[in-house]
Amino acid sequence: MKKPASSCPPEAPRAPAETEAELLRRHAELTELNARLTTAQEQLLQSEKLASIGQLAAGVAHEINNPISYVFSNFATLGGYIDGLLAMLAAYREAETQIGDPQVLKDIRALRAAIDLDFVTGDIPVLMNESLEGIERVRKIVQDLKDFSRADAHQEWQWSDLHHGIDSTLNIVSNEVKYKADVVKEYGAIPDVECLPSQLNQVFMNLIVNAAHAMPKERGRITIRTSHEGDMVRVDIADNGSGIPKAIQGRIFDPFFTTKPTGSGTGLGLSLSYGIVQKHHGRIEIDSTPGQGATFSIFLPVRHAAASIKDQQP
Ligand SMILES: Nc1ncnc2c1ncn2[C@@H]1O[C@H](COP(=O)(O)OP(=O)(O)OP(=O)(O)O)[C@@H](O)[C@H]1O
Ligand SMILES: [Mg+2]
Repeated sequence: MKKPASSCPPEAPRAPAETEAELLRRHAELTELNARLTTAQEQLLQSEKLASIGQLAAGVAHEINNPISYVFSNFATLGGYIDGLLAMLAAYREAETQIGDPQVLKDIRALRAAIDLDFVTGDIPVLMNESLEGIERVRKIVQDLKDFSRADAHQEWQWSDLHHGIDSTLNIVSNEVKYKADVVKEYGAIPDVECLPSQLNQVFMNLIVNAAHAMPKERGRITIRTSHEGDMVRVDIADNGSGIPKAIQGRIFDPFFTTKPTGSGTGLGLSLSYGIVQKHHGRIEIDSTPGQGATFSIFLPVRHAAASIKDQQP
């Protein structure tokens, strides 16, 4: 079938400058679109990773939580019993001189030498303390896993002063920070933010502790800066520590990614923080020059509801 003839007159040829400007404009649009697609894809990937690891974490945390709770509680009781037994042993030892039968005395002394009683009684408190530290660590990891997988769903959104949250978090982590760095606060005028305050505190805590861990041998500096831009509040946590090598910058938000020695980092801090900021419809950006330090910037919408409505718009 023959196509009907078009009624529109053919377009007049455009001047080359106009065409080039149009091309440049379209190119800029496509580049912008492409960047947005890449960001969306990265966020999607990260959410998927978080969701699957979250399920695993929930299962593991649930299984470990009960046994570790009773081990912890039994351990405290056991500590009391052992103190009593050691006191009893010392009393028996004092009474040794009262033993009339030389054979009994000889046997007791032989047994004491065989088990090296002096060493054992000195070593028991050391072993108990080390084990208690170990159990505490497991409890913390389980708690991290629970927070990570569930991040207390029943918490209420409320209007909160972020400066207040940062200050109280600084108090909690002061032991981690005070020997390594000076904290400089550069607080701007920011409005209250509609948020899950204790979860945001967890984010501040992870970022501040990470900054403290990245400090060089000599005393470093952690700067906490806040500002208000449009309908977003920004919190920067900047350090002059080791910085983050370019090669790993794309992986530090991955669950269980850590460069810390085995036993000292679970690698959950940043992935947890990422999930929490995402839940607030915010974002985290990193700026780091290896060898000079790192800045983590958190952008949060002032109003949570506004963020969800905006999200639904194309
Ligand atoms: N401020 C920082 N400076 C340098 N490296 C950092 C900084 N913050 C994070 N990192 C790097 O990112 C990695 C992941 O951090 P993340 O907080 O997720 O885990 P972690 O600190 O190793 O362990 P934890 O679960 O105990 O927090 C760190 O091991 C470290 O290599
Ligand atoms: Mg950490």
